[in-house]
Amino acid sequence: MIGVAVVGYGYWGPNLVRNFWETPGARLVAVCDLRKDRLAAVRSRYPAVHVTGDFDELLSDPRIDAIAIATPAAAHFKLAMKALMAGKHVLVEKPMAASSDEARRMLEEAARRRLVLAVDHTFVHTGAVRKMRDLVQDGLGDVYYYDSVRVNLGLFQRDVNVIWDLAVHDLSIMDYVLPERPVAVSATGMSHIAGEPANIAYLNLFFESKLIAHIHVNWLAPVKVRRTLVGGSSKMILYDDLEPSEKIKVYDRGVTLNGSSQGNGEKVYQMLVGYRTGDMYAPHIDVAEALEIELRQFVECVQRNERPTADGNAGLRVVKILEAASQSLAERGRVVELEHMRRIA
Ligand SMILES: NC(=O)c1ccc[n+]([C@@H]2O[C@H](COP(=O)([O-])OP(=O)(O)OC[C@H]3O[C@@H](n4cnc5c(N)ncnc54)[C@H](O)[C@@H]3O)[C@@H](O)[C@H]2O)c1
Repeated sequence: MIGVAVVGYGYWGPNLVRNFWETPGARLVAVCDLRKDRLAAVRSRYPAVHVTGDFDELLSDPRIDAIAIATPAAAHFKLAMKALMAGKHVLVEKPMAASSDEARRMLEEAARRRLVLAVDHTFVHTGAVRKMRDLVQDGLGDVYYYDSVRVNLGLFQRDVNVIWDLAVHDLSIMDYVLPERPVAVSATGMSHIAGEPANIAYLNLFFESKLIAHIHVNWLAPVKVRRTLVGGSSKMILYDDLEPSEKIKVYDRGVTLNGSSQGNGEKVYQMLVGYRTGDMYAPHIDVAEALEIELRQFVECVQRNERPTADGNAGLRVVKILEAASQSLAERGRVVELEHMRRIA
């Protein structure tokens, strides 16, 4: 059995606690939060679980093998480093850290001590995103574009801009699904509340091939939209996370270019471009809760000393893009190169 402690029992922490409570091979030993009311909530629901406001208490507890960190991002680095230095495996919430320098140091510490460092990129464990990856790897042909919209009204954050809050999901999905890593990013955005971080942003990601990606995130939209299009030379995918059942639709549609483009006029052009309007189907998708799959994998990785799907490298790659995108946003969309992305593997 792997003894687990969860730090941070605010909005997201309870999901980790509930799932760890039921994960085979895991024993939920303790929950830590600075707020007494949150600890009282744990005590009433899980009377057998130890509660504490003192994080350091977890570090010296020999029953605890792994610590899951679900505090706001600013505290991830400090808590994760302490946990790793105490010899504990770590699962840290997204975004992995507040800067790529912090993420890299966490990664190095985990590697030095041969500890598992996982990042909660929850979406990569959903049936829909796993299906999307399968389709991209086999069936879409050459991937031309990735185009995502993730907008809703609220919850305005004060410590991070909308890119760190919402685009982090798209970037983690792209990191998992696409066959290439981006080489540069450009972002524009705006804050509509004086002194607060940007609440709307548009990201463009460039790759070495002709693949291009665009992500639109917004806390000030009248409706909630979670839609992604992935276009390939053979097929195209529409992923709508708000669809209750048919989250993924695969379209056998596209264009084919016939012959060379020499010659002029409408007639020649029509001969060159053929439109393929084939069938659409909605593949079967595993509906198991993503966190259930993720935490089971985390426990197995700790038991077998293996790398999880979203490891520290994935976390670092995503943080590097978030950082570069925020830098670009501050400079009205200047293209910022993403160096050494391929080396973070
Ligand atoms: N994976 C996902 O889909 C997902 C969804 C939402 C939030 N998150 C992530 O989860 C993390 C927490 O977000 P949230 O919305 O639950 O925040 P929150 O503010 O609702 O809760 C954070 C909790 O952590 C506690 N806390 C803060 N610092 C602490 C410390 N040093 N020691 C112990 N407890 C401490 C706070 O008292 C609070 O109860 C963030 O990193 C966020 O990005 C992930």
